[in-house]
Amino acid sequence: MFKKVMETINFLESKVNTKPKIAIILGSGLGGLVDFIEDKKSIPYGDIPNFPISTVEGHAGELVFGKIAGVEVLAMKGRFHFYEGYTMKEVTYPEYVFKMLGIEKLIVTNAAGGINKDFSAGELMIITDHINMFGTNPLIGKNDERFGKRFPDMTEVYSKNLISLAEKIASKMKISYKKGVYLGTTGPTYETAAEIKMMEIIGADAVGMSTVPETTVSNYLGIETLGISCVTNMATGIAVKPHSHQDVVKTANEAGDCLCKWIVEIVKNI
Ligand code: HPA
Repeated sequence: MFKKVMETINFLESKVNTKPKIAIILGSGLGGLVDFIEDKKSIPYGDIPNFPISTVEGHAGELVFGKIAGVEVLAMKGRFHFYEGYTMKEVTYPEYVFKMLGIEKLIVTNAAGGINKDFSAGELMIITDHINMFGTNPLIGKNDERFGKRFPDMTEVYSKNLISLAEKIASKMKISYKKGVYLGTTGPTYETAAEIKMMEIIGADAVGMSTVPETTVSNYLGIETLGISCVTNMATGIAVKPHSHQDVVKTANEAGDCLCKWIVEIVKNI
């Protein structure tokens, strides 16, 4: 793994000469943030040695190097989902690359279903913690101490500092938001109403099919992480109609505009 990551790094360093310290993962329908990136250099995943290729609708699949308000960033447009058939190591491969590139802070976004009945579709939620219901863990397997410890602590997967920064900026910009626990499941099915009832009981505010693997690994690697969900729909049993991926992407696109402006200010002030 270490050797593979270094091959990827050598390739990327031969293509770009920037040294971003902030990475951003753009979730389903939230790719609009790349329009805020200046001096862009985009590299399709397919061109990057050892990188998996994203396949799901609504994900373009490229790494975008550039600047947001003068600050160097690296954005992932399109992520790798476990439900696409990738292994957990493939899903989280980019985080290892981020670490070796010198990334210190990560902003993760996603589309999620709202479980908390105080939420409504189109709202944004700062992730305060997560519940892993993938039934597996991306750190299973032999541990390489060059990356991190065998038994990582999970007290602060989502940085309290970054949460407080995001909150300060939101109140200045008059952006309304919720805070809550994100529950990650494999998908690709949406949940049953009974599952959502259980998820509510165990303390989840929103549910989605990503993020938990990536942030489990970013925490392990010592990358300070902020997570923001876009509640694209209310979850099964709470919503009045069946879910569709098209509706999820549409709502994410609509709410994404506000999320993009928020992230731009966060990056400026980080
Ligand atoms: N469930 C799981 N993942 C999701 C949902 C949902 O309701 N909405 C967007 N991603």
